[in-house]
Amino acid sequence: MLHLITPETVKNQRVFVRADLNVPTKNGAILDDFRLKSLLPTLMILIKANAATILATHWGNPTPESPDPALSTQHLVAWFEQHQIPVTFAATLDQAAQLQAPGHIILLENLRFFAGEKKQDATFAHQLAALADYYVTDAFGVLHRSDTSVSLLPLQFALDHRLIGLLIAREIGQLDKLTSHPTQPFMLVLGGAKLDDKVPLITTFLEKPAAQRITSCMVGGLTALAFIKASGHNTGSVHLEAATVTHAATIMERALHKAVRIDIPSDVMIIEGELGATPTICASDAIPATATVVDIGPATIRQYLYNLTSAKTVFANGTMGIFEYPAYQQGTRAILQAIGAIKGYSVLGGGDTAAAADSCGLAASFGFVSSGGGATLAYLGSSHPFEQLPGLKALIFS
Ligand code: 3PG
Repeated sequence: MLHLITPETVKNQRVFVRADLNVPTKNGAILDDFRLKSLLPTLMILIKANAATILATHWGNPTPESPDPALSTQHLVAWFEQHQIPVTFAATLDQAAQLQAPGHIILLENLRFFAGEKKQDATFAHQLAALADYYVTDAFGVLHRSDTSVSLLPLQFALDHRLIGLLIAREIGQLDKLTSHPTQPFMLVLGGAKLDDKVPLITTFLEKPAAQRITSCMVGGLTALAFIKASGHNTGSVHLEAATVTHAATIMERALHKAVRIDIPSDVMIIEGELGATPTICASDAIPATATVVDIGPATIRQYLYNLTSAKTVFANGTMGIFEYPAYQQGTRAILQAIGAIKGYSVLGGGDTAAAADSCGLAASFGFVSSGGGATLAYLGSSHPFEQLPGLKALIFS
């Protein structure tokens, strides 16, 4: 059973909050503060309840041996101040213990700067647990990891002292709408870099009973190239692992068996030479070996938009092209706009996808935007997420 944070439970208590504030930055500036904003409702409860809060997150993938100073969480302090939430930075656990006070939030240094975080280290878990009476997790984006603060630290607390924050409660509630009884037709739109990360998700939704099964899956980005290759065509300069192509072939075969459509681009946009070059249209069965695929083509966009007009439930993850370049955004923009306009329930997962929707001014048009990337895929792709995701398992098992 999950225990949700309430003002009564945490009133005047020492609380350790595990958040996912792994936000993208460029030259020191936060590019997308969605994850920071998503944590605020839980922080407001803690402040009002006069809790002595230690807030902790990972940020990027630094090594504890030579931690990148740009990834120190002290760079997040200014964001909290701009949002009228005073936080005090603590570089060490000792400092955090000294500064801890009722009604205050101490922001601990990047957890991945500590040697024990990535090592499932019982000693580090004990040291963190000594700082608090309650463990609260709102780190939805990292629930699929076995990091110490995610999978071991909760076990140091009694079951009813392991709480979920408002963000995780919302994520689970919204994502479960996709898994329990999606209104049909239910479609997936999957793009982005790697098919491999999405295989469990596609397989899970293919093998479900008919009422919960997807009716179709539209693919774009590098994900689509695996299917193009598995269909016997060239995919240009991109190297695809043989295992990835086999995954695509297996999915196509299972989809055929279950009468689910896998929509593969019939045309793509390609460039020859450097990224940034003006793209041209190319049939997806005639991609030259020297070309780079940068977006889906106009016929594919038309087909996908047509499919989406009848969708009642959509889950989308990943962009259709290399979104960092304005010249290759057309597919993603058109598809996101169509998903946002469906007369039904739409969910967007993945930081890059959410950021793309945001930059197109479309974020508000979706039923739900998940704060997770890999975690959202893992949650939806698990038949038993509370047993399969380390961060969830640690909340309910002793
Ligand atoms: C994410 O951004 O997907 C999460 O914060 C997890 O980060 P990680 O992939 O570095 O563990």
